[in-house]
Amino acid sequence: MVSKRFYITTPLYYVNGSPHIGHSYTNIAADVLARYRKMCGDDVYFLTGTDEHGQKIEKAAAATGHSDVKKFCDFVVDQFVQLWKMLNISHDDFIRTTDSRHKEAVKNILSILYDKGEIYESNYEGWYCTPCETFWIESQLEEKLCPDCQRPVEHISEKNYFLKVSKYRDWLRDYIKKNPGFILPRTRFNEISSFLETPLNDLCISRPSARVSWGIPIPFDQNYVTYVWFEALLNYITAPGFSEDKDKFNTIWPADVHFMAKDILRYHAVYWPIMLHMLGLELPKIVFSHGWWLLEKSEGSLDKMSKSKGNVIDPRVIAEQYSVDALRYFLLREVSFGSDGCFSEPAFIKRINSDLANDFGNLIYRTLNMLIKYYQGNIPSSERARENCDEVFKKNVQELDEKVARAFGVLDYQTVLIEIWELIKSANKYIENKAPWKLQNENKEELDFVMYNLSEVLRIILLALAPFIPDSAQKAWRLLGYKDQIQSHSYKEVSHWGGVSFNQKVDKGEPLFPRIE
Ligand code: MSP
Repeated sequence: MVSKRFYITTPLYYVNGSPHIGHSYTNIAADVLARYRKMCGDDVYFLTGTDEHGQKIEKAAAATGHSDVKKFCDFVVDQFVQLWKMLNISHDDFIRTTDSRHKEAVKNILSILYDKGEIYESNYEGWYCTPCETFWIESQLEEKLCPDCQRPVEHISEKNYFLKVSKYRDWLRDYIKKNPGFILPRTRFNEISSFLETPLNDLCISRPSARVSWGIPIPFDQNYVTYVWFEALLNYITAPGFSEDKDKFNTIWPADVHFMAKDILRYHAVYWPIMLHMLGLELPKIVFSHGWWLLEKSEGSLDKMSKSKGNVIDPRVIAEQYSVDALRYFLLREVSFGSDGCFSEPAFIKRINSDLANDFGNLIYRTLNMLIKYYQGNIPSSERARENCDEVFKKNVQELDEKVARAFGVLDYQTVLIEIWELIKSANKYIENKAPWKLQNENKEELDFVMYNLSEVLRIILLALAPFIPDSAQKAWRLLGYKDQIQSHSYKEVSHWGGVSFNQKVDKGEPLFPRIE
């Protein structure tokens, strides 16, 4: 039997502007999980991509003087591709909604749903927000503005196609109640549960081609294109081969984790599960909605970082100035995954200096330096240390793997890092308490014991951190005397004491995270 792959997705990003820290955040979180699961032995399928149809993109192309919308998309997509490369995002597939594999599968799915009687034609009368490409009813507007983006809406009346989502509300409510881990974190679960207490309107899934030409034609009515949200959500099944390769599809679906921010949770936690149910497919295991990165707008007031508002931080600038791993670490350590965070350079510098330059950097530097000074770089042969680690590390080491697994299970990256830092801090304290520089003259056997313990704790820390800071972990792994790829090791090895070999030859190298002044 073919085993089920671990399937991770990110949203498909709109290509109406360059990627910013917010998009990087989601992809870094997804990447850390992908790397972790690979180290746990899973066959991971990690999907990301771009959302390229609709009026928003058409307008962005026109605004930058592009008459060929696809060429404009190609140009912006390349920026996403380059950024993911730079940030070490290890996706296995990249889907564009303009890919023919996607377009053909969407048409196929529309026909299936139409034949099943889940789609009907009706007149639509109401308010429309062009930037969000969303219909609103009068009572949902906030002072005549779009409740999502606070921009003016237009009144329209037109014939359209609708998906019968309303009749599945009770089914979804029951499903969510029975599966409390389906929507995470808990606050978002509560939000969706209370949203489902009110009636659900059927979803308008078409746009007249006379108004929006840049889209996937509706197979049963050439005068319409598909609503972008309806087709974009389908990427999660079109990419793994829903229409093209059922065998492959069955080994990948259902998704294990869909990542996104809170602004688009409703599409993923309400409409998407109903669409899957209509198609007779299982639901994803976890829909995780994280918070927003905000920027200070004026003294004391914060605003969501967004392309359309133009108030964004360019991740390339931060990564170039400070390092990719510093950025990856900061984003996942600074705020709890699920809450909002405020991005500021002083906070960034403070966090990197205290955690990476001081705690982590010093531990590596001091440990390797002492190994070179006292043992010409050879890890000492202490049978006593290899058999049993020093009592001070015992609990942390024994429990690390399990604690990390528990926190990763609910996508609590901050707790994973805090647990690893417990070990880093205790190792730094150990150096102070044991004072190897004194043992060197007073007790050689004890020095061997202490230095073996430190080398071994360093090995464990590097393995544990590898999914978060892959480049730096690999560099330090080499310095510790390993020749292979750190990520070819099993994550389980973090709790197996006695991994470093006697006489393994270490090197000092350059500091991985120099202090930022
Ligand atoms: N195209 C839709 C998604 C379709 S998924 C089938 C879309 N695109 S988007 O370009 O606006 O990207 C939204 C996603 O980008 C958010 O869900 C989140 O993952 C990420 N972020 C965008 N801005 C963000 C912040 N300021 N902070 C955190 N994440 C942010 O919506």
